[in-house]
Amino acid sequence: METQAGDPGAFARFDLGRVPSPCFVVDEQAIRRNLAVLKDVRDRGGAQVLLALKAFSMWSLADVVAEYLDGVCASGLWEARLAREHYHGHLTTYSPAYRREDLPEILALSDSVIFNSPDQIARFRDVIETARAGGQVFDIGLRLNPEHSEAEVAKYDPCQLGSRLGFPVSQLKPEHLDGVDGLHVHALCEQGFDPLQRIWASLEPKLEGLLPGLKWLNLGGGHHVTRADYRREDLIGLLRTIAERHGVQVYIEPGEAIALDAGILVGEILDTFDNGLHVAISDISATCHMPDVIEAPYRPALLGEREAGVSVRIGGPSCLAGDIIGDYVFATAPTPGTRIAFLDQAHYSMVKTNTFNGVPLPAIALWDSESDVLTMVREFDYTDFRDRLS
Ligand SMILES: Cc1ncc(COP(=O)(O)O)c(C=O)c1O
Repeated sequence: METQAGDPGAFARFDLGRVPSPCFVVDEQAIRRNLAVLKDVRDRGGAQVLLALKAFSMWSLADVVAEYLDGVCASGLWEARLAREHYHGHLTTYSPAYRREDLPEILALSDSVIFNSPDQIARFRDVIETARAGGQVFDIGLRLNPEHSEAEVAKYDPCQLGSRLGFPVSQLKPEHLDGVDGLHVHALCEQGFDPLQRIWASLEPKLEGLLPGLKWLNLGGGHHVTRADYRREDLIGLLRTIAERHGVQVYIEPGEAIALDAGILVGEILDTFDNGLHVAISDISATCHMPDVIEAPYRPALLGEREAGVSVRIGGPSCLAGDIIGDYVFATAPTPGTRIAFLDQAHYSMVKTNTFNGVPLPAIALWDSESDVLTMVREFDYTDFRDRLS
């Protein structure tokens, strides 16, 4: 996959020596800029916008998120707890499958709980009724598989053959919507307006007659709304049209769009040598700190990369032979101690870090590119590694 990172923005003037290494540095002003764009879509499109915590759960910014958006969406019990502990507003929870023992707390925490199939709703009817009898108020939703593939890579396509994500719309019958308040559709990944428009064009006729009985329609995430080339006016128009034509409250739940181009991962070169290629080992590991580099896979953009110069293969300190971040061009070959930074690392990288090989977790810093105030939010140590093992 291609990196979707734009330009470095204010990070072009950030002194990489100001933070420990490795360290995520998130620019609050960039987050606010993204949130303002989404709030504008919300206000003019008449939709509710939720932050998908799975993409960006830097909860030290929860109050900032609340200034712009309606709430958050969670992927299960722990994100739902995080939402209620730190975030504000609406909470929607969706998981492909729930454990019976988790569901009472999820129902108590959430405003909407979305199920993956009518069978699951039926199986948990008793838990739902008990919660309501106890005075809890929540909506029930059903995730649909629109059976219309738009994702460019199968790994990110919830409509792939045999997908476990969502109830196939071709199997949907009116009786499946008994006790259902809303529908959820998520089939995009880092995409513009056109694929959304095509999905909706294919789905809308299949939902004819079903939507009037429902309260809401959630169009999921994957909308790259804050990318410069996103057709925001068209999105606003579509959101309004759906709401007006079908009388439903429309939700979107972007994650990546909130933190797009808003954070870097700063690291340091630990060693260099020549092995037919210029090789550099950094304290940033692809497998531990940017696993999507291997999983997606993609090549993250390097801050200040040159067009011409020395090409250097940068990899991490783990034992994995494939812990390679990519080949990058430097004006002169970096030496041990050289600071580097990869762009657009605030979303997904931060939430996916791990300590394989006992590789330390990156610290987390918040920078205000307007005031230049830098706050160290969190630093991790040996005990964080030890305490998740037995
Ligand atoms: C159900 C659901 N909602 C929202 C999102 C957020 O997507 P993104 O971060 O690409 O906007 C995802 C991502 O996988 C998702 O699965």
